[in-house]
Amino acid sequence: MLTSFHSRAQAEFHPAPSIEPPEETKLAVSSSLPANAGCIGSFVGADEGLKDSPFDRAFLKAAGFEGKVGQTLVIPRTDGPPLVAVGVGAMARLDPGTLRDAGAAFARAAGKQPNLALKLPDTGAVPADVAAQALTEGVLLARYRYRPYKQHSEQEPPLEVLTLVTGSKDTAAVEQGMARGGIHSRATAFARDLANAPATLLTAARMAEVAESLAERCGLKVEVFDGEALARLGCGGLLGVNAGSAEPPRMIKLTYTPGGSRQGPVGGVGRVALVGKGIMFDSGGLGLKPNDLVHATMKGDMSGAGAILAAMTALKPLGCKAEVTAYLMCTDNMPSGTAMKLGDVLTVRGGKTVEVINTDAEGRLVMSDGLVLATEQQPRPDAIVDIATLTGACQRALGVLSAGVIGNDQALVEQVKGAGERTGDTVWQLPLDRRLRQELESEVADLKNVGGDNAGAITAALFLEEFVDGLPWAHIDMAGTARAERDNAWRSKGATGYGTRLLIDFLVGFTPPREVRH
Ligand code: BES
Ligand code: MN
Ligand code: ZN
Repeated sequence: MLTSFHSRAQAEFHPAPSIEPPEETKLAVSSSLPANAGCIGSFVGADEGLKDSPFDRAFLKAAGFEGKVGQTLVIPRTDGPPLVAVGVGAMARLDPGTLRDAGAAFARAAGKQPNLALKLPDTGAVPADVAAQALTEGVLLARYRYRPYKQHSEQEPPLEVLTLVTGSKDTAAVEQGMARGGIHSRATAFARDLANAPATLLTAARMAEVAESLAERCGLKVEVFDGEALARLGCGGLLGVNAGSAEPPRMIKLTYTPGGSRQGPVGGVGRVALVGKGIMFDSGGLGLKPNDLVHATMKGDMSGAGAILAAMTALKPLGCKAEVTAYLMCTDNMPSGTAMKLGDVLTVRGGKTVEVINTDAEGRLVMSDGLVLATEQQPRPDAIVDIATLTGACQRALGVLSAGVIGNDQALVEQVKGAGERTGDTVWQLPLDRRLRQELESEVADLKNVGGDNAGAITAALFLEEFVDGLPWAHIDMAGTARAERDNAWRSKGATGYGTRLLIDFLVGFTPPREVRH
C-alpha cells in the first residue's frame, strides 16, 4: 500500500515531462545570424580545412585552442553575444559522431543561454542533412536535465531556440536533418526521463499509463496485461519476479503498423518484435543487493523497456515501413515474505521450467516470457531484438560507452551494429558460445537462471536463446551504457537514453535478414 506521502507525490508528478509540449525546443534554420542569439558557435578544424571560420588562427593558437574534437573557446565581445570556437578535429576524419560530439561541446560551453545559434560548417563528405541531424542531437542531448524535482531549475534552464545558420548551403536538407535530430533527441530525452524517475513514482502500472497516454498521438496500439491476464498467459517468469512486490506487474504490448492502424497486407519491409527489460527497481530480491552507490541506480533497470517505448514514439513521424510489436516486461524485484525463494522453479510462457538459483538474475526471467510471446505471433516476426540492463559482467567487459550485442543471425547483428555506428549508441559483439550452455543445466528443472562465475554476459544470452525458437534474434545488453556518472559529450549525467536512437535507426532501416516460415 502506498503511504499518503507517496500518493500525494505521485498525483503531482509527471514522470516524463520531455514528451509534453512546453519542453520542446524550437528548431530553426536560417541563412543569416539571428539577432537575438545568446551565444554563437562556429567550428574550427585542427587543420586549415574550415574556410568559413570567423576566427584568426594565430589568435586562437595563442589562447591554446587547437581545434581538437570537443575543445571549445568562449570569446566574449562588447558588441554582441559571445562567440564560441568549437573544435572538430581533422577535416579528413569528420563524421557524424564527431559532429554530434562537437554540437554537445558547443552546448556545454554556451552554458545556460536559452537561445543558441550554430554556424553550419562545410562538412565535406558528410551530407548536409546528416550533419544537421548530428549537430542538433549533440546540442539537445547535452542540454538535457531531469528537472521535476529541482527546486532551482532556473540554474540550468531548458533551451528555447536552436538555430542552424546555413549561409548559402542547401536549406531544405538542413531543415530535414534538423527535424530528424529533433525527433531522435526528444525520444531519447523521454527515455532518460523514464529511467531518471524515482521507482516509487514510476511503477509498472504508471509506466503502462504513460504508454497509454501516448498511444493515439504516436500511432501506436497499446495493450496492457495485469497480473491476472499474465497468469492466464502463463507468464511465470514475470509473475515469479513480481511475487515479492507490493506493486502489481504489467506487460505492455505496443504495436506499430505502417501507414495506419488497420491490419492488412504488409505494406512495409518486414516485421520486428522487440522485448524490453522493465525492472522498475532491482533490489536483488531475497538475494538483496548491498546498500551502495551502484545499487542506488537500480531505478534505471527498466532502461531497456524505456528505450523501446521511447523509440516507438518516433516511428510514425519518421515513416517507418516495418511492422513493429513490442513487449515491455514491467515489475520491480523486491524481497518480502511472498518473494520467490532460491531453489524455486518457475514455469515460463510455453512451458519451460527454470530453477531460480539467484533472485538477482531476474531480468532473464521476465524476458523469457516476452521472447516466447514474440515467437508465437502470427505472422511470425522476421527478427526479434531484445534490450536489457542485464549483466554487470557486460559492463565489466565493455565499459560504459558500448553495449554488448549477441545473436544467432549475423546479418541481423550487422544491422544492429550499423545502427549503433550511425547513432553513436555503439555496440560490440560478444560470441554466442554454445559450449557454455551446459553451465545452465539444472538438477530439477529444464535450466537454471545463472551459469558459472565467468562470461556472465554470454551465459545470460544463452539463457535467452532458449526462448527464441530459432528465429533470427539479437540481444543487446545495455547494463553498462544506461547511465553516465558525469556529463560526457552528449551524454548528460544520469540516464543516457541509450538504445533509443539505435532502435529508431534500426527499425527505420530494417530489412528481414532471411526468410522466416510464417
Ligand atoms: N540489473 C542487474 C544488472 C546491472 C548491473 C545493471 C549493473 C546495471 C548496472 C541485473 O539484474 C543483475 O543483478 N545481474 C546480476 C546477474 C548475476 C546474479 C548472475 C549481476 O550482473 O551481478
Ligand atoms: Mn538483478
Ligand atoms: Zn536487474
